Amino acid sequence: MSRLIQSVLAISLWWVAGGLAVAADSTPGQAASAPQVQSISIQSVKPDASDAPGYAEQTNQQRAAVQPGNNAPMWRDVGRGAEGYTSLPKSQAPEAGVLIQPFVQYPGSRLTNAGEAWRQVRNQWIIPYGGSFLLVVLGAIAIFYWRQGAIRVHGKPTGVVIERFTPLERAAHWANAMAFVVLAVSGVTMAFGKFFIQPFIGDMLFGWLAYVLKNAHNFAGPLFAVSLLIVFITFVKDNLPQAGDLAWLLKGGGMFGDSEIPSNRFNAGEKVIFWGGVFALGILVVASGLVLDKLLPFLIYERSSMQIAHMVHAVAAVLMLGMFIGHIYMGTIGTEGAYQAMKTGYVDETWAKEHHELWYNDIKANKIPANRSTPQADKAVNA
Ligand code: HEM
Repeated sequence: MSRLIQSVLAISLWWVAGGLAVAADSTPGQAASAPQVQSISIQSVKPDASDAPGYAEQTNQQRAAVQPGNNAPMWRDVGRGAEGYTSLPKSQAPEAGVLIQPFVQYPGSRLTNAGEAWRQVRNQWIIPYGGSFLLVVLGAIAIFYWRQGAIRVHGKPTGVVIERFTPLERAAHWANAMAFVVLAVSGVTMAFGKFFIQPFIGDMLFGWLAYVLKNAHNFAGPLFAVSLLIVFITFVKDNLPQAGDLAWLLKGGGMFGDSEIPSNRFNAGEKVIFWGGVFALGILVVASGLVLDKLLPFLIYERSSMQIAHMVHAVAAVLMLGMFIGHIYMGTIGTEGAYQAMKTGYVDETWAKEHHELWYNDIKANKIPANRSTPQADKAVNA
């Protein structure tokens, strides 16, 4: 026991003596035994090996020989898209061995690795210019409505109705329109919600909202594609160019004047939206959307195919949205009686005569039946 006490006393004395010695050595404000390190810029450190000719072109093995542990050549190759080894079969994971994609220059980006190039196109072009385009469209429509108001029916309704849309046409149209609204709301939230929703509802709620809407988008897409095809087949015949279309276009449909320019069942403005929005942009949006949904069985899905599909999809969808905002305006508050036509299927003769005079004349001349779905029926439903 006394041995233990002796040891404890000895250790304590050694510790106190050591502490006093350090205190005597140190000057005020300076760490007692800190070594004096001289700083040096890393730029000016030139290991001899870096002066050797061909240093920058060395392979990883050559570099390891002159500077053990320096594997910069390997990372430089990885950054340029070099492929490494992977045990996954190429047929299932074609680019699993590629960590960083090779350099590419997408329209509007710098020459850089493809992931970064895609990011630049999205964030520096599609989002700012696409968003501005949609705001301009909304603003132009608001000004038009403010200055011109809705296109009204001037004459009195006759009570005699004409069938403008058959039940099949209406079903195809509304299925397509509903899918479109889901796609538009979810697409706009995914692309622009960060700027006008996230600041108000916060990160957590916006994360969930974007997650739910992204899945809604993925499922509404194929419904839109199928119904768009049916809409195209149903309406293509009456959207073919006809006499009177050019005159209508040249006079802007008479929209800025007092009376409308006579048109067929669909006027030239509707035909422009049909061929530009439903057909051309429809093909681009649907095809690129099916790639993004990975629904095309014959395609190899690599990061580059997704990046290109995304850029095509976003640009075409923004243009399509701009066109259909115009269409929705004209189909609702912009034209008196138009929405009723698509809802009930029927329009009054006065509406037909004022908005589509050439079509009305053809019906009166018995070239087109007034009731296509029930030709014999003498309908008197007020549209
Ligand atoms: C969601 C809102 C929509 C509303 C309120 C709406 C409303 C209307 C209305 C009222 C008409 C009848 C116009 C007339 O009598 O001449 C019409 C026609 C038509 N709509 Fe829509 N629509 C919508 C979305 C869509 C979408 C998303 C598409 C296609 C992608 C579409 C394609 C058509 C076509 C093809 C016609 C026939 C006119 C033509 O072929 O030019 N609509 N729509």
